[in-house]
Amino acid sequence: MSQPERRLDMEIAKTIESVRKLVSAASSAGARIGLVPTMGALHIGHISLIEEAVKKCDFVVVSIFVNPTQFVPGEDFQKYPRSFDADLEICRQRSVDVVFAPTAREMYKAENLTWVNVEKLTEPLCGGFRPGHFRGVATVCAKLFNIVGPDIAFFGQKDGQQAVVIRRMVADLNMPLEIAVCPTVREAGGLAVSSRNEYLTKQQRKDATIIYKSLEKCREMIESGVRDSKTIIAEMRNVLRTVPSIQIEYVSIVEAETMEAVEHIRGRVLAAVAARIGSTRLIDNIVVDCGKE
Ligand code: PAF
Repeated sequence: MSQPERRLDMEIAKTIESVRKLVSAASSAGARIGLVPTMGALHIGHISLIEEAVKKCDFVVVSIFVNPTQFVPGEDFQKYPRSFDADLEICRQRSVDVVFAPTAREMYKAENLTWVNVEKLTEPLCGGFRPGHFRGVATVCAKLFNIVGPDIAFFGQKDGQQAVVIRRMVADLNMPLEIAVCPTVREAGGLAVSSRNEYLTKQQRKDATIIYKSLEKCREMIESGVRDSKTIIAEMRNVLRTVPSIQIEYVSIVEAETMEAVEHIRGRVLAAVAARIGSTRLIDNIVVDCGKE
């Protein structure tokens, strides 16, 4: 397969002032601005977002910032994979215009007193296990939107709850941008691509494919007419339990927009799983639309 052409003039902006200048010049020339917010360690999931941004926008900014405020105490902030040079190469090859890579000091100054808290939607699923996580995500995304001023920001369905939270923040705070949510990219066995997959051994990676199998079981049951979510969740748990190394955090079926648990499945629902293999926490989800039954 031929490699895409490298973009030699890609800019690397480390300050808010410099990224703003670059974007403002492009905007004044009439460019449609795309933003792909990332924490780096770019993989094929991020590449799919970047490619979508390049397709839809004239000027694309990729932010690379391992955001400390979205890690709960005891989580993997320090050891989170960082591969800045390789990330830059990926961005160059995909014709990104600017990589915005600020320091934590640049983003938060000495003290940050203003936080964005999206209520309700952040309580279930990951919110229950990672208190404060979505406050950190919403705040950093609000900052990035204010700094870059994109027309469209691109997120992955892999972090389904995050996408719903960000969409709601944008709507509630009247932020003038569109949120595009792109499909989850999966490895051959179905495992959702994630930066944290790097932590897994070969065997754990194989074991982790059971997460998607449990979601497929859910889809299969809904498509065959089962509507009782308790029955489906019990079956999903049985599937997950066939792999002893999996420790289940949650298996839930929620209404796709409100994130409220559903008993009788109707409309669009999100089925979501969080589980640990060893010390690695993995999440995945699917959206199933079964109409108005
Ligand atoms: O999905 C992520 O990588 C992060 O949560 C995001 C959106 C870049 C915010 O730090």
